Amino acid sequence: MFKDYKDKIAVITGSGNGIGKALALGSAERGAKILVVDIHADDAEKTVAEIKEKGGEAVALQADVSLSEECQKVFDTCMELFGRCDLLINNAGVSALGEVTEATERDLQWVTSVNYFAHFYMMRRFIPQMIKQKTHCQILNVCSIAGIITSIAAPIYFSTKHAAVALSEATYKFLKGREYDIDISVFCPGFVQTEMYLTDRHRPERFKINDDPFYHSETYQKYLELNKQVLAGGKSLEEVIPMIFEALDKEQFYILTHPQYDTLIRKQDEYEADMIRPIDYADVAE
Ligand SMILES: NC(=O)c1ccc[n+]([C@@H]2O[C@H](COP(=O)([O-])OP(=O)(O)OC[C@H]3O[C@@H](n4cnc5c(N)ncnc54)[C@H](O)[C@@H]3O)[C@@H](O)[C@H]2O)c1
Repeated sequence: MFKDYKDKIAVITGSGNGIGKALALGSAERGAKILVVDIHADDAEKTVAEIKEKGGEAVALQADVSLSEECQKVFDTCMELFGRCDLLINNAGVSALGEVTEATERDLQWVTSVNYFAHFYMMRRFIPQMIKQKTHCQILNVCSIAGIITSIAAPIYFSTKHAAVALSEATYKFLKGREYDIDISVFCPGFVQTEMYLTDRHRPERFKINDDPFYHSETYQKYLELNKQVLAGGKSLEEVIPMIFEALDKEQFYILTHPQYDTLIRKQDEYEADMIRPIDYADVAE
């Protein structure tokens, strides 16, 4: 864990809104300098303005992390500005609606590239730098409880989050196995009150809603409405963000903030159980 966040350099994707923005504000409050990365330049600028108003330091960077070359841009900008990165938070995420027979292939590509490929693109670049720095570093991959359990709903979203959790687990084993001084955690929340129901707003040009009848169906509208309702019933950011920082301070791998899903978490063999169960969960929840 960091003794404190003072002068640490944090790169946070999708920090123009929601959980990413709250993590950026929280990290800045603790003393870190933030590279606020978002697909929307104006949203990133707003987060930076709020951080600066509170006396913190931050720089905004527009980037679409679904593209490898844009993740290279994030890395290059971070190195040019700060020369290192101590905390990487892969938070940008989007969701797609529809059962497997309804959802579109372009949505599979869009959601996979943001929720999963981007984690790889970023870690592939930042981990070698963190190793080279020889300073203590942290990585937080924002996934979802959808990365641990499954549901009939939103198969694209669930499967991309499973892939992202698996990538985090493999990276955890790699970092621990090599005894690198890099902590990695995976945040797997249930619903959190954000505007994630506006996810279609974050589509890059190549994935914009087109004339596929599914996007114009009543079913699609119903899914959007349902999404809005379930998010509104989630935990508040004020509840969840302190739990994340507390878990990071404890070097906890799994960060599980919604106990109602505990019984659904799949049973694994003894070794996996150590990885999958909310090991320090009771402490965090209290
Ligand atoms: N809100 C929830 O209930 C919930 C639950 C579980 C997991 N999550 C996960 O938490 C993360 C944050 O979600 P949120 O609720 O804050 O959503 P949000 O929609 O409020 O914020 C997502 C942010 O990511 C940015 N973004 C989207 N695509 C991007 C791209 N290609 N490149 C760069 N930035 C991009 C958006 O502009 C936005 O600022 C996501 O990974 C999401 O899957 C959210």
